[in-house]
Amino acid sequence: METDKPILLSGIKPTGVPHIGNYFGAIKQLVEFQTVGSHQSYIMVADYHALNFVQNAGDMRDLTRELVLTYMASGLNPEKVVLFKQSDVPAHTELAWIFDTITTMPYLMRAHAFKDGEAKNKEVSVGTFNYPMLMAADILLYNTAKVPVGHDQKQHIEFARDTAEKFNRTFGETFTLPEEFIVPEVAVVPGLDGQKMSKSYNNTIPLFSSRTDIEELVMSIVTDSGSDRPENVYAIHKLLKTEHELESLYTEHTGKYKALKEALIEDLDAFIAPLRERYHELASDPRTVLDVLEKGGQLARERANVKMEEVRRAVGVS
Ligand code: AMP
Ligand code: TRP
Repeated sequence: METDKPILLSGIKPTGVPHIGNYFGAIKQLVEFQTVGSHQSYIMVADYHALNFVQNAGDMRDLTRELVLTYMASGLNPEKVVLFKQSDVPAHTELAWIFDTITTMPYLMRAHAFKDGEAKNKEVSVGTFNYPMLMAADILLYNTAKVPVGHDQKQHIEFARDTAEKFNRTFGETFTLPEEFIVPEVAVVPGLDGQKMSKSYNNTIPLFSSRTDIEELVMSIVTDSGSDRPENVYAIHKLLKTEHELESLYTEHTGKYKALKEALIEDLDAFIAPLRERYHELASDPRTVLDVLEKGGQLARERANVKMEEVRRAVGVS
């Protein structure tokens, strides 16, 4: 691992079956950064964030393992990036507490997730309310420069920056200010119904779908008869082929939704098949994930602990 490069950090919550929205919106960029080699990456399974949603030990373990396999099958190499689990680094929750003490309730009430919960009349847990502070800790503990995420996470990065500034003003220069990295053209990957692809909308194409599942899912894409081009089919197709490549196909098959869906099935399967194969290969050895997390946890703890000691000194508890 190279420690002199700027730090990149990102994470995903293990809350459901990973889908192509996660891939194109987040994971693909992480793999590209690894290839370019401009940063030292810390890639996290945000299991303590997920605990707000997944409250069953067996499910948490299965989803965590699945996410690690997803990162690896998508091309992340644990020899090149630090692949770790948030709960393996206690400094994350420790720093989140310190941030809680310098953050006001009205400030956190501006968070989208909190406002959504309130608007839907849900009883928002304290964990959900404090979610941005744990995420700020995730990011700031590593002196992170870049945070690649989907568009929905933009506000959280702003919260992390604000929190770093507030801490620095209060206790002295300690944290560097992170920047988000969002790829504009895939900022929101649409689902089968045209809404944002999300496990909570039940409109996803899972990343390791079988051929049969791909066929069923694509055939279920909602099409709006009336227009020449099935927009929801096209929007997903655009992830796999350039607009130039699609132009002749869609012109040739104007109004023929079935043929266009069949073409999308072929392109999706060609994209997913190698990922699926790699996933099953990695999954066949139960030690793989455990070994990767053990090593990644150790490296992440070493780095986080140095920063945490600096923070403890800054606030006067060490
Ligand atoms: P989640 O599964 O909601 O925890 O999201 C994990 C990562 O994938 C985050 O960086 C999200 O912003 C990104 N992501 C999730 N769904 C989409 C989507 N439909 N389009 C783009 N990015 C997404
Ligand atoms: N909140 C992010 C999401 O829901 C996951 C996450 C947790 C994260 N900690 C992070 C992303 C730190 C980037 C950096 O997608």
